Amino acid sequence: MEKYISVKDLEEAAIALLPQNARDYYKSGATEEFTLKENKVAFQRLRIRPKCLVGVLNYNLRTKVLGQDVSMPVGIAPTAMQRMAHPEGELANARAAEAMGTIYTLSTIATSSIEEVAAAAPKVTKWFQLYIYNDREVTRNLVLRAEKAGFKAIVLTVDTPLFGIRRADIRNKFTLPEHLRLANFDGYLSTKIHSTSEGSGLNEYVNSLFDKSLTWGDIQWLKSITKLPIVVKGILRSDDAVKAIEAGGSAILVSNHGARQLDGVPPTIEVLPEIVEAVKNYNVEVYFDGGVTTGTDVFKAIALGAKMVFVGRPALWGLAVSGQAGVMKMLNIFRTELEYTLQIAGTPSIKDITKDMVRHESEYYKLVSKI
Ligand SMILES: Cc1cc2nc3c(=O)[nH]c(=O)nc-3n(C[C@H](O)[C@H](O)[C@H](O)COP(=O)(O)O)c2cc1C
Repeated sequence: MEKYISVKDLEEAAIALLPQNARDYYKSGATEEFTLKENKVAFQRLRIRPKCLVGVLNYNLRTKVLGQDVSMPVGIAPTAMQRMAHPEGELANARAAEAMGTIYTLSTIATSSIEEVAAAAPKVTKWFQLYIYNDREVTRNLVLRAEKAGFKAIVLTVDTPLFGIRRADIRNKFTLPEHLRLANFDGYLSTKIHSTSEGSGLNEYVNSLFDKSLTWGDIQWLKSITKLPIVVKGILRSDDAVKAIEAGGSAILVSNHGARQLDGVPPTIEVLPEIVEAVKNYNVEVYFDGGVTTGTDVFKAIALGAKMVFVGRPALWGLAVSGQAGVMKMLNIFRTELEYTLQIAGTPSIKDITKDMVRHESEYYKLVSKI
C-alpha cells in the first residue's frame, strides 16, 4: 500500500485492473464529459490564503454531521454496484468507513443488501440513498428496512428522472455481470440490468422503473413513512435548495451526480456558495460532492460552507485496488493531506476554516491588473 501516495495513484492502478464494462461505468461522465473535467479544474481556480503564527499544536479534524460525530469531514458517497470493483463490494467499503470513523452511504442499486451492510459494519454511521420507484410499495419497503437496520438518514437523490447519456455504457451495452444481483430487491428487479436493445442496460432499467412524475410534493409522502432525516441530494440552484428545505428536507447535498447526468451543468464547487447563501436562514447543514481528490479540495469546500464532503469514485478506486484496505488507504490519504492543510493554513480545527481562507483566482487577477 505504501506505493499509493495520492488518490490519483489509486485511480491509475484501479483503471489498469478493472474490466472494461466496470471501468467505463465507474469513470464516465455525461456526453462530452466537459463538466466531469470542470468538477476537478474548478478547484484549481480557488487559492488558499494561509494564516501564519496562529499556533497549531492541537489540530483536530473531528466534526459533527446531523448530530453524529465523525473523525474527519470526508465520507463515502453512494455509488451503485460496488461488487464489480471487488468481491466484497459495499461490505468492504462500509467496513473501511467504520474503521476510519466516517459516514458510509449505501446506494439503492447496490450489489449488497441493506441488511448485509448493517451486519458487516454495525458501528459505521450509515445513510441510505433512495431512488423512488414507480412502485411505491417497493420504495416504502426499502425505507422501512433501512430504518430497521439502523441507517441514520435517507439521502433522496432528486437529479435523476432518468440516467444521463454515458456513451461508453451505450457502446459496451452495459450489463451487470451474471454472478451479481441488485441485492436490495427480489425477483426481476434484482436481475434486470441487462441490455436487451441497442444501449446501456442501466438506462433501460431506470427508464422503466424510476418514478418520473416526482415533484417536491412527494417529499411529504416520504416524510409520512419515515422519521429519519432526509438529505436532498443533487441540488444545483438556490431556489431548489429553498424548495427542498420547505418541502421537509433536513439537509442539502450539493451534487451534480459526479457529472454523470447532464453535461454543461456547473462544477459543484462553483455552485456551493450560492446554495449556502440561499439556506443561511434555515437551520440546515449543506454537504458537498464532485471532483474531490485531495485534502486541499476538501478544505476549499469547507471554506465555502460545506459541513461534510463526500467522495464517490475515489472509494471505487480504493476498492478495486485492495478492497477494505484500499478504501482505508484512500481515506487515510485524505486524512493526512487534510492534517497538513489544517496546520500549514493556520486553521487548527474545522470550524476555523472560514470563507476568507479561500479566494477565487479572478480576484487576484483584478488586483494584479491595477498595478
Ligand atoms: C459509478 C458511480 C455510481 C453512482 N451511483 C449513484 C447512485 O446509485 N446513487 C446516487 O445518488 N448517486 C450515485 N452516484 C453519484 C455519487 O453519489 C456522487 O454524487 C459522485 O460520485 C461524486 O463525484 P466524485 O465521483 O467525483 O466523487 C454515482 C457515481 C458514480 C461515479
